[in-house]
Amino acid sequence: EDTPLLAGKTVTITAGPTREALDPVRFISNHSSGKMGFSLACAAKALGAKVNLISGPVNLTTPSEVNRFDVESAQQMHDAAMELAVNSDVFIGCAAVADYKATTTANNKIKKQGDTMTIELSKNPDIIASVAALEENRPFTVGFAAETNDVANYAKGKLKNKNLDMICANDVSDSSIGFNSENNAMTLFWPEGERHLSLQSKQQISHLILKEIASKLAAKK
Ligand code: C5P
Repeated sequence: EDTPLLAGKTVTITAGPTREALDPVRFISNHSSGKMGFSLACAAKALGAKVNLISGPVNLTTPSEVNRFDVESAQQMHDAAMELAVNSDVFIGCAAVADYKATTTANNKIKKQGDTMTIELSKNPDIIASVAALEENRPFTVGFAAETNDVANYAKGKLKNKNLDMICANDVSDSSIGFNSENNAMTLFWPEGERHLSLQSKQQISHLILKEIASKLAAKK
């Protein structure tokens, strides 16, 4: 059934959470499971692509014949992404990147202090916006938007502000889909149109997303 729509193409995907160290034993992170990014990697492989999967810390096995690059922090994910993106036809940012990191990481374990304590945070680089801003060798760039309200408007805003070619939006106020779930429903937006993908397994939805990307890539040439 799988025609190799992405034969000869390289697809680079970010997946999972990032981990921002506070000290040698503590970090800031989030509940991203990495399942969506890993299932996109499987789908891209099934369509014949060469696949790079840049993953934060997750408990998932590497899909067969996928090149996996393990990272922890957003900065490390950014550096790996920028290196791989310029040799990619498609870049999909599926990772739940921490928006902020601790301004300074303590070399030793931070000691208990008074009743309150303050940690100063600094903004992390926006990985997908950096990829989409490439002036040479810019891949077809696809983002994700997890929203709890006004899904279409926020997703379209991100499509434009981050200069993406496509964005996959899902409503995370519904606990049957999105974070940690096996199933997902989403709407794909691109500058000239949109397509709704109904609730189905992450594997099935990934296959439809990659097929949509493949047809847009073919139309660009
Ligand atoms: O702005 P927001 O975090 O909602 O955008 C989500 C999209 O941007 C996802 O594709 C995510 O992987 C990407 N992103 C990124 N680097 C960041 C923050 C988000 O690549 N620092």
